[in-house]
Amino acid sequence: MSGIHRIILYRLLAAWVAVSVLTGVAVSWMGIRKMDSQLVALATADLERLSAASLPLLNQTELQRRALNDLATDFVRQHFIAVEFRDRNRNEVAAAVNPLHADIEQELRRQAYSFPLDDDRHYRNFSAGDQTVLRILVPLKEPAGGIAGYFEGTFLIDQETLDELRQDVITTLLVVVFAVTLTTICLYPVILSLNRDVIRYSNDLLKGNVELMEVLGSAIAKRDSATNVHNYRVASYAVKLAEKLGLEHSEIRDLVAGAFLHDVGKIGISDNILLKPAPLDEQEFEIMRSHVTLGVDILSKSEWLQKARDVVEYHHEKFDGSGYLKGLVGEAIPVTARIFAIVDVFDALTSRRPYKEPVPFAEAMGILQRGVGSHFDPRLTKAFAGIAESLYLEISNTPDDAVEWRLQELIKRYFFPDR
Ligand SMILES: [Fe+2]
Ligand SMILES: [Fe+2]
Repeated sequence: MSGIHRIILYRLLAAWVAVSVLTGVAVSWMGIRKMDSQLVALATADLERLSAASLPLLNQTELQRRALNDLATDFVRQHFIAVEFRDRNRNEVAAAVNPLHADIEQELRRQAYSFPLDDDRHYRNFSAGDQTVLRILVPLKEPAGGIAGYFEGTFLIDQETLDELRQDVITTLLVVVFAVTLTTICLYPVILSLNRDVIRYSNDLLKGNVELMEVLGSAIAKRDSATNVHNYRVASYAVKLAEKLGLEHSEIRDLVAGAFLHDVGKIGISDNILLKPAPLDEQEFEIMRSHVTLGVDILSKSEWLQKARDVVEYHHEKFDGSGYLKGLVGEAIPVTARIFAIVDVFDALTSRRPYKEPVPFAEAMGILQRGVGSHFDPRLTKAFAGIAESLYLEISNTPDDAVEWRLQELIKRYFFPDR
């Protein structure tokens, strides 16, 4: 499974867990509320037959009080553990307790709880031992709308009803989790396909930028006495040295772009100086040096080409500070530029130019060694010396178009790692 697939999968999994937990909590909360109201409806079903007219809760005669007590006893014969009728001042008028559940009633009395006295029905769940009971308060209304008194009862919820209601909540919860899971599974291929499109578009964009880098590098090679293949060779040498030094992939990409574009500023140097077959005088050399600033200026037009900037701007700096343009010293020169300086000089020495024959490998390495500490970074030159011979033999024995092809492979590896 590729990295991006794994990331999508992990994120979907995290979203699935988060949505399942959140909706699970919401559904459970709503389920419990619904369960409570169903229980209250069950407990109060019998109360509907009560009317204030039949309950003269104040100033009762003995007969009326007995009738009310009979009514209370009637309630406790069914599901109620205990009931009380109270007048509007909350004084008990009649009461009954189911003797079979007297222990529960006592336990509840210990958990003394008073409902607020207002126009609304109230309920609350209590646990007494392993039993669940529902305590309810129902205001009893007079025909005129006023409060005649209150009915307060403790309703025993039988286990079967409780299990049934709990099962309802669990079933709803499972349905919700199943729906979330199904949605997540359906989303996965959709996100994958959208992601593939995004990768394709960004790769097309990247391909355009890499082509632009190669075109610009080739444009300057057409003017300079160097050839395209100089760019391919220095880029190959630079990548191999960077790999040996363990540079980050992003630095290697910068190095490849820099290798292609290091002398792009030479486009702005006139032919009589750029192509002069003799050594340059001081004034001409001053103009030649300006290819560095011209190169930086050309790159500034493209955000993407800024990758090459360090190499373009500092490839003529020297380790002891005697280079140009800034005269940076030692590790103040970016590592990509220090690497590039070594391979650029090495390839210039070992390749054929219209005005010179190639210098033999051993002689070229001797020249590099003499420049260690002054021109070149000692650590990097030592690392290059370790790989130079086999690299040189490999590249110098490879036809130009094969050098280009091999560099394309390196470009693929560092610029399009997912392809
Ligand atoms: Fe240069
Ligand atoms: Fe060069």
